[in-house]
Amino acid sequence: MRILGIETSCDETGIAIYDSDLGILSNELYSQIDLHSKYGGVVPELASRDHLSKIIPLIEDALTKSQLKKTDIDAIAYTAGPGLVGALMVGATVASGLAFSWGIPAIPIHHMEGHLLAPMLEDNKPSYPFVCLLVSGGHTMLVEVLDFGTYNILGESVDDAAGEAFDKTAKIMGLGYPGGPQISKLAELSLIEDDSYPRPMTNKSGLDFSFSGLKTHTANIVNKSSKDQLALANIANAFQRAVVDTLMIKSKRALKLTGHSRLVIAGGVSANKYLRTAAQKMMSEINGEVFYPRHEYCTDNGAMIAYVGFERFKRKIYNENDLSVRVYPRY
Ligand code: KG4
Ligand code: ZN
Repeated sequence: MRILGIETSCDETGIAIYDSDLGILSNELYSQIDLHSKYGGVVPELASRDHLSKIIPLIEDALTKSQLKKTDIDAIAYTAGPGLVGALMVGATVASGLAFSWGIPAIPIHHMEGHLLAPMLEDNKPSYPFVCLLVSGGHTMLVEVLDFGTYNILGESVDDAAGEAFDKTAKIMGLGYPGGPQISKLAELSLIEDDSYPRPMTNKSGLDFSFSGLKTHTANIVNKSSKDQLALANIANAFQRAVVDTLMIKSKRALKLTGHSRLVIAGGVSANKYLRTAAQKMMSEINGEVFYPRHEYCTDNGAMIAYVGFERFKRKIYNENDLSVRVYPRY
């Protein structure tokens, strides 16, 4: 079985082919970061146009690199949401159009289910059940994963997502877009362990998150600081420590509540080195195990969409005769 995966929810055109015996055969990615960085964030109209010009050549590349013909593909999986409506439309229309002309199904996929299951593409993958900390630019969630397709949302952000807090704080600090990698790199220059920043909602019971107050707290400190490189590095480090500490406190609580011993961390922020070190330390203290996707499967990619498409195709969880273009920006 071979599934073509198409991801166009935001600023990355991701195309991949998943083979049920061999795993990922090709994984093509075109990132629009350079296009959007001068605006300090993603410009939706530019994103749609860029997806449109890149998607077909990337599909051709994916087929060529896998040494496959279009007749070797059994189904096309595409991100139906959440995301930018115009960007999603490009992927959904191309997926549905190709599927119709190739006589195979087009399977709409939830972008966050893609992130959630991206670690399943690794050799060292978690077995079910586990708790997943999903941390991306648009979402921060704790999810109990009992099996494929059986997910209980335990908690989520009531305002900014963790990645969004990194991006907005980086902007306030005059760093580039996307902010997560920039803050993380700058924080490495800091030599102090400042734990004075708030760990939002950790004093309350429950598993929800809130990061907008921490962002405002950091903005106030930036405004009063000398703004030289070391001062900004100390702020970046203190901010990152506060975000990661908060994520770890809540993840530990979720594991205790559910009784599971495996933690999966996925989504763009799971690429953060400090988060990985902290998670490793926390999980070894409680005799648990932690799993992540490799770096290129942390941020947006077509491989995770192809994989979820395979799981759905195998179980026949799709509508064979559905020719509609499915797009749900607020899925
Ligand atoms: O999963 P993703 O590619 O897109 C969404 O579905 O939102 O996540 C992008 C987010 C951005 O907010 C970016 O700043 C953050 O992931 N990110 C990071 C790191 N790499 C990407 N945040 C912290 N540290 C990183 N190393
Ligand atoms: Zn994403």
